[in-house]
Amino acid sequence: MASLRDLITEEIRRDGPIPFARYMELCLYHPDLGYYTRSQEKFGKAGDFYTSSDVHAVFGRLLARQFEEMWRALGEPARLELVELGPGRGLFARDVLDWAAKKFPTFFSALHYVLVERSPLLRQRLFDTLREHVNHGKAEVAQALPTGRENAIVFANEFFDALPVDVIAHAGLLRVGEADGKPVETFVHPGDEHFDYLDRYSVRPQAGERVEVSLEGLRHIEQIAGSMKRGFALIIDYGYTRHEQVAGRHLDTLACYRQHAMSSDPYEAPGEQDITAHVNFTALEAAAEAAGMSRLGLVTQSQLLLGIGEESRFADAFEGCTLPQEHAKVALQLKHLVTPAGMGETFHALLLAKGIADANLSGLAFSSKR
Ligand SMILES: C[S@@+](CC[C@H](N)C(=O)[O-])C[C@H]1O[C@@H](n2cnc3c(N)ncnc32)[C@H](O)[C@@H]1O
Repeated sequence: MASLRDLITEEIRRDGPIPFARYMELCLYHPDLGYYTRSQEKFGKAGDFYTSSDVHAVFGRLLARQFEEMWRALGEPARLELVELGPGRGLFARDVLDWAAKKFPTFFSALHYVLVERSPLLRQRLFDTLREHVNHGKAEVAQALPTGRENAIVFANEFFDALPVDVIAHAGLLRVGEADGKPVETFVHPGDEHFDYLDRYSVRPQAGERVEVSLEGLRHIEQIAGSMKRGFALIIDYGYTRHEQVAGRHLDTLACYRQHAMSSDPYEAPGEQDITAHVNFTALEAAAEAAGMSRLGLVTQSQLLLGIGEESRFADAFEGCTLPQEHAKVALQLKHLVTPAGMGETFHALLLAKGIADANLSGLAFSSKR
């Protein structure tokens, strides 16, 4: 059977050098050999990376609390769709549903959880993780974002960083060619769409610099805004703003992960390593506003979780801990989610709303500028 590298080489020989976004798309999502399509474990200790829900259920529990507040801000509708984009294995959804059932029964009775996952293999895993909730009609696994919802919350954790991006260097828009079956970088003049993106949301790279352009990210934001009449979106990811790029930070954020080791070579082992790019929050905010949503705030994960957990003094984390050692272990896990040395400062949360004037959410209580 041909390897993914062979298939990519074949496509380049047939069509000429391909945009980097197409190369990344094949590496991550090729129907048989893409990184997210293959059966090898990607998540957790046995895989290539950890996400917040691997650390502790408190991540989902705190956000269940935040979603319940959003539901109240919407006037406690009898039905609320909570749509998660790119749920992976579904740990977050399980934590949210279990906690909502236990702590917020009225909210839980209104809640309908939709898991939108592109990978067929992961969709199958989602059925297994959430079997009970699926059987009770509380959760549903889907391939595409449902549209025409009256009241909805869209949630995405580490979804936007997994979308294929274009790369622009001083020499132009990156295309991947080949020589003797090995990838070769070539550059073409960027189109208006790319220049427009750079000038509005990013910077034009100087000699030796690279920046990423996520047209896919814009497309997804437009879909999110168009999917609901009223509601919220909460997007959590590694990311930056245009302001930070102007200061020379967050250029060339493309990174690859394999067995918890990071590399910056996307051409190594196609289909066997994760490829990600940090998220341009300035671009997402602008696309959301153009599509009829308003920006409630952009905060660090630390600010978000501290804001939600402060009032209850993080009781959500410690429930069920009886022994002091258990308590100490959970305190360390919580610290990892919140402190700058862990995931607290590298991850940011963008909160958006549609059809709601001001929601006064606890997740924004520590935001410096609302
Ligand atoms: C880095 S993983 C994050 C998984 C999960 N959110 C977590 O925090 O553990 C990215 C996920 O997004 C999914 N994905 C990528 N593009 C997608 C799309 N267009 N629609 C739905 N899911 C997508 C991938 O298959 C993968 O499960």
